[in-house]
Amino acid sequence: MDLDLAGRRALCLAASRGLGHACAVALAREGVEVCLVSRDAARLRQAAAGVQEASGRAATWHPLDLTDPAACETAFDALAEERYDIVVTSCGGPPTGPVAGFDRGDWEEAFRGQLLSVAIACCHLVPPMARRGWGRVAMIGSITMRMPMEGFALSNAIRPGLAGLAKTLTQEYAGRGVTANVVCPGFTATGRLTEAAARLAADRGISVDEVVNGWTHAIPAARLGRPDEVGALVAYLCSERAAFISGQSILIDGGQSPGM
Ligand SMILES: NC(=O)c1ccc[n+]([C@@H]2O[C@H](COP(=O)([O-])OP(=O)(O)OC[C@H]3O[C@@H](n4cnc5c(N)ncnc54)[C@H](OP(=O)(O)O)[C@@H]3O)[C@@H](O)[C@H]2O)c1
Repeated sequence: MDLDLAGRRALCLAASRGLGHACAVALAREGVEVCLVSRDAARLRQAAAGVQEASGRAATWHPLDLTDPAACETAFDALAEERYDIVVTSCGGPPTGPVAGFDRGDWEEAFRGQLLSVAIACCHLVPPMARRGWGRVAMIGSITMRMPMEGFALSNAIRPGLAGLAKTLTQEYAGRGVTANVVCPGFTATGRLTEAAARLAADRGISVDEVVNGWTHAIPAARLGRPDEVGALVAYLCSERAAFISGQSILIDGGQSPGM
């Protein structure tokens, strides 16, 4: 299927590793010029080389801490001048734990990273897309938006705001060629998940394999997701082919969420 994305430009947030990087690679393979955003310049340089190796296309990068709203305002204001057609949002995952396990600072930091950074990016980047008559917003959310999980209090409580943001952007901009959707991954094999498995294994005195087997046991597909599968879904949603899909929160979870 020709996704008809060649020549488009995408800003990919939290894209030096993991899901954000997989989305950048998938878009670059479709002929999109990508700019990677995350905190560390050295990791970004390496990530841009990874995009080039995987796609044959050079990538640019922009260091930014997405939990710093003032820095986000300045950066997205400047980046909006660079004519991005696509923005893929993500951020480092919030720490796990129960509601009372976090203080106000933790709640505020999770809100800034998971939701406020996305809203600020959209405020700056979406109106110019609408003026040009074409744009795509793809937000990386989580299965927790549809199936809140024990021990994921920050994610369960804050991420559903992405669904409201995508719906609202749709009401405001779909008539001018801009779509906005959320992709909700289940357990997907990234560095973050490997770290979480190692932490849980140490806490419970069991092996990493036992932790991962416990997770996959709950997934009808009987395996973890792959980052490139999330990248492929995001590339499709960003394509011309998906012009009639907007305001949706789409699970990619191997069938784990029980809802219909
Ligand atoms: N993997 C899963 O199973 C899964 C499932 C559902 C939802 N999610 C969510 O998807 C998101 C990405 O997860 P992942 O598995 O891809 O994580 P990851 O492999 O740890 O990658 C996280 C990325 O975010 C960047 N980042 C972290 N904090 C940042 C900040 N404050 N400002 C800018 N960039 C930042 C990191 O780069 P630097 O450290 O260089 O800044 C890195 O590029 C998370 O929110 C996670 O909760 C993941």
